[in-house]
Amino acid sequence: KACCSEFPPHAEVLDEHKISLRRRCEFVTEGTAAAGTGTPLNRIYTELYITEGRSEEVNTQHEVWQLETTSKMETLSDTPIKCHDIFKPLPGQDTHIRVVVMQGVAGIGKTFSVQKFTLDWAEGLENQHVSLVVLLSFRELNLIIDECYSLLQLLCVFHPTFQTVTAEKLAICKVVFIFDGLDESRFLLDFQNNEVVSDVTQTSSVDVLLTNLIKGNLLPSALLWITSRPAAANQIPPTCVDRVTEVRGFTDLQKEEYFRKRSSDEQLCSRIISHIKASRSLHIMCYIPVFCWITATVLEHMLTTDQTGELPKSLTDMYSHFLLVQSQRKKHKYVLLKLGRLAFEHLEKGNLMFYQEDLEECGLDVTEASVYSGVCTEIFKTECVLFQKKVYCFVHLSIQEFLAAVYIFHCYTNSNTEVLARVMRTLMSEALKSENGHLDLFVRFLHGLSLECNQRLLGGLLGQTESRPEDIQTAINNLKEKSTYSVSPDRSINIFHCLMEMNDLSVHQDIQEFLKSENRSEKKLSKIQCSALAYMLQMSEEVLDELDLKAYNTSYEGRRRLIPAVRNCRKARLVLM
Ligand SMILES: *[C@@H]1O[C@H](CO)[C@@H](O)[C@H](O)[C@H]1NC(C)=O
Ligand SMILES: *[C@@H]1O[C@H](CO)[C@@H](O)[C@H](O)[C@H]1NC(C)=O
Repeated sequence: KACCSEFPPHAEVLDEHKISLRRRCEFVTEGTAAAGTGTPLNRIYTELYITEGRSEEVNTQHEVWQLETTSKMETLSDTPIKCHDIFKPLPGQDTHIRVVVMQGVAGIGKTFSVQKFTLDWAEGLENQHVSLVVLLSFRELNLIIDECYSLLQLLCVFHPTFQTVTAEKLAICKVVFIFDGLDESRFLLDFQNNEVVSDVTQTSSVDVLLTNLIKGNLLPSALLWITSRPAAANQIPPTCVDRVTEVRGFTDLQKEEYFRKRSSDEQLCSRIISHIKASRSLHIMCYIPVFCWITATVLEHMLTTDQTGELPKSLTDMYSHFLLVQSQRKKHKYVLLKLGRLAFEHLEKGNLMFYQEDLEECGLDVTEASVYSGVCTEIFKTECVLFQKKVYCFVHLSIQEFLAAVYIFHCYTNSNTEVLARVMRTLMSEALKSENGHLDLFVRFLHGLSLECNQRLLGGLLGQTESRPEDIQTAINNLKEKSTYSVSPDRSINIFHCLMEMNDLSVHQDIQEFLKSENRSEKKLSKIQCSALAYMLQMSEEVLDELDLKAYNTSYEGRRRLIPAVRNCRKARLVLM
């Protein structure tokens, strides 16, 4: 292709760029902090299930629940897209795909996909008709939020090898821009009012450059790939987007492939896989690669050391073990608690990225970094980005949610469990009010931590609690009686999950019996039973022929709570009164 030989002016510049991209993408650090200690991407890369179009879900729900419903949709006949075909029309499609938005929940593998695409290009394996791949993460872009550049200058900021590239050269080339992690963007993208910029040498603020690139005013020949968590993806007007793809994580087969790639011990793998299959919660969560990693870390450790205890079955259990495995070498209780405070305070604000200032505010000394990266190497990831300014985040949102729960629990351990039950009730109400469910998993962990078995596991970290069975029972009753008139029925299901974390299986058993019984209308269902039923119908392998809310013997609120089951039925009658 002519443009390839013309761009960049010297082949060496392009080679140098490819080398730098390879250096960046070759190794992945699945949660491990230290640079250069990662695993080769090509060794562990497991194909992900990526489909075109977004699922019909309200995309501001909490990611975990959303995932649970999308996992169901795997059975629908979607054509999967391989990551190197991300710009290629599907068979029968006849459109030019310029802007792709790839969405998926935290830890589902968006960044892995982007890295794989880039690495394959830089190694000369795929997409060789593309002359240049520019990989930028919003984490990096955030660092220049207050500065002004032209597009050409912006390229040089991140890829200094491009000093010699001219506007003319850029215009005739096939450039792919990848913007990774829109959800982490601190930019306000104003597609309505931003001025038009169409000249790659015209200076303006970075958000204006971005909106113009996306709209196609600036460098219209460039292809764009933007990744984002679902709730943030709608910042981009649909009219600018030619293709929306969704990363759905691992299918069952891919999940097993992942575990097998991690370890050569056949027997160990089989034990891990069969344990996961036996536990519904774990099985669902394993659609998220990061959760597979957490699970594998814990189970490999437990199965290869002489552990007599039972393997974890609930989420709280799994995360408690994870924290233990990670902090075993040294016990830095106070650092973990400070991290917990950071986790909680920022979770409340919906903030997932932290800077040095944020750490200091929580009493974390940055020179202490070696301490906590030593203890929590795999819990806390430090990313060296541009100008060596460090950006911190927890390896997975769920780790932040778990540590936040540990912190809150610790704050109340000098009080008795009665106080704790009250705190849990208040936080549950707050969580139910949240539009996007950002506190759901946190509340679920908090309930799990109220159990003595989980407390025993974390021991010193939580401090001394006086667990009175009657207070635990009060907390359970609070959950069962909780009213949720103004709350979305999807959110109410979290109350049921909390019960499961508290090891109260009674509701689950009631519903299993109910589903087996012949004369269902004779049994009056409580609110919490309806949430459980909605959840179980939704997750069932069988698609319900018809969901008729009137057919259930329950209250108005109960019927309302059944609505989520609509996702797994062919026909529905949604009459509430
Ligand atoms: C309804 O079901 C229950 C238990 O499933 C049973 O004990 C009862 O006799 C049934 N009633 C009728 C009318 O079939
Ligand atoms: C609903 O359940 C209650 C309590 O089990 C029962 O008395 C009533 O007859 C049921 N209603 C219907 C319509 O079956």
